[in-house]
Amino acid sequence: MAMLRLDKYLADMGLGTRTEVKQFIKKGQVLVNEEIVKKPEYKVSAVEDEIVCCGKKVGYTEFEYIMLNKPQGVVSATQDERDKTVLDLITEHDRKDLFPVGRLDKDTEGLLLLTNDGKLAHELLSPKKHVPKTYFVIVDGVVTKEDVDLFAEGFQVDAELFSKPAQLKILEAKEQSEVYLTITEGKFHQVKRMFQSVNKPVLYLKRVQMGRLKLDETLKLGQYRQLTEEELALLR
Ligand code: URA
Repeated sequence: MAMLRLDKYLADMGLGTRTEVKQFIKKGQVLVNEEIVKKPEYKVSAVEDEIVCCGKKVGYTEFEYIMLNKPQGVVSATQDERDKTVLDLITEHDRKDLFPVGRLDKDTEGLLLLTNDGKLAHELLSPKKHVPKTYFVIVDGVVTKEDVDLFAEGFQVDAELFSKPAQLKILEAKEQSEVYLTITEGKFHQVKRMFQSVNKPVLYLKRVQMGRLKLDETLKLGQYRQLTEEELALLR
């Protein structure tokens, strides 16, 4: 990895804004290889140099992978003029280059991956890769075997969308049914449109799995954590 400015290094690692970390540096609170460095523009190697800020060793990771249990009411964007975004929820590991991998609607909950690894994001989102995404869905109406068969075949959802084969698993079929739906595409409002098309509007939607990565159900809504090495390997 190339050399980078000391203030950028510290800001990337979430130690503060660029202005805040400059203050740490100017106050002599930052050591590079055990020497105080007071120049924010000083170039460091993320691999070779040992950097200590305010008494704590800082390890540089080029890529961050965060699993968020997205709550309703936040949008899957990096910036929004009206609404709070998923990035506003990330207060630790807060790097300016993070972005959500794909989108969940404002009223959809569940598994959302945030990263700065554009290559992995592309692999997961590319339509050619057919990465399956599983949703827990509550719909208004009784889901039937006919729905299962129709979804399994692929069907004309509406004027613009012909859905690819999708797997529908009924958990409870009653006035308000509970199902798991696995799709390999990610068209705009896809799940809602598929159920709307069979006159069973979605009442609640939560993503529980993406590829082989499952939502950690111990994360409360709005909580997040870094992926483990094992989880990252599942995505690759
Ligand atoms: N399908 C939808 O309709 N909404 C989502 O948020 C995700 C998939």
